[in-house]
Amino acid sequence: MEILKYIPNRVDAMEVVTYEASELSEAHFVENHVNLNKPCLIKGAVSHWPVMQKWHDIDYLADVTGNPQVRFYEHSNYLDHKNMARREQQGRFKDALQKIVDNEDGIVSMPSIFCNASGPFSPLKNDLGNFSFLSNIPAPLYYPEQRFFMYSGAGTAWHFHQIDETLMCQIKGTKQVGLLAPSCIAFKQLYKDLMQYKYLDGPTCFDNYKDEIKPWEVTVEEGDSLYIPPFWWHGVEPVNKNFGITLAQCWASPIYKLADFNKPMVRKIWKDALLDKGLARLIMKHGMPAILSSIKNRKLVANME
Ligand SMILES: [Fe+2]
Repeated sequence: MEILKYIPNRVDAMEVVTYEASELSEAHFVENHVNLNKPCLIKGAVSHWPVMQKWHDIDYLADVTGNPQVRFYEHSNYLDHKNMARREQQGRFKDALQKIVDNEDGIVSMPSIFCNASGPFSPLKNDLGNFSFLSNIPAPLYYPEQRFFMYSGAGTAWHFHQIDETLMCQIKGTKQVGLLAPSCIAFKQLYKDLMQYKYLDGPTCFDNYKDEIKPWEVTVEEGDSLYIPPFWWHGVEPVNKNFGITLAQCWASPIYKLADFNKPMVRKIWKDALLDKGLARLIMKHGMPAILSSIKNRKLVANME
């Protein structure tokens, strides 16, 4: 799966702003990145967490969770159920982890392991720590607060988060992440080409608007966290086939972000919500009251596509 390969202008890819966690204040992170919806890389954000040592041991992971039944896949992570369900397998957690460890040439992916308060993976929460640059973590509106991806060779297809802030934390292994801003002029065509995986077929799908594609790229190493704001496109590839673990830590977005109708992505989300489309509808169900109260005096409908 060539997730990043055919994205135009990678040679001129922009660099994501990078901080050392020890030098990043919460005020600076919130004011310059969360509030402005700008990604950044925080080096060493989770390198002090107990998880960094404990989770290299698959016996420990199996024992602390009770070795529950899990689903895993011999392909990268897609957005839609149809592609995701291909070659789905089920087995015990430890057996799936062993397949990941033993994998050399193929792909094994165990995505979206939720640390729910009462689920079998809840003991894993005890191995997490705090972020020195983020103390206020309100419950996310849509995504789980924490979900893990355990994998070898598995990337994640281009997608965006319709709401909620995300820190993509590398517990084990290194990933390359491509980012595209939500303000891309060729929004409609880009949306279609990325959501329908046209980019996997080769570089030609971007021919009509490749000059409009201005990617960011960043390497997220073990112990680092990448702040991914809502609406930003991102595609992810591991740098090798080794056992890797990623944590997605999510929290609620400032609600005004969903009232930024200058962004075509925001207009699209609202349009889909009004057309009663799955995920967007759920987001609106949770976010709508707060959004409406914050924007009640604005003329919204006229701005929608
Ligand atoms: Fe994501």
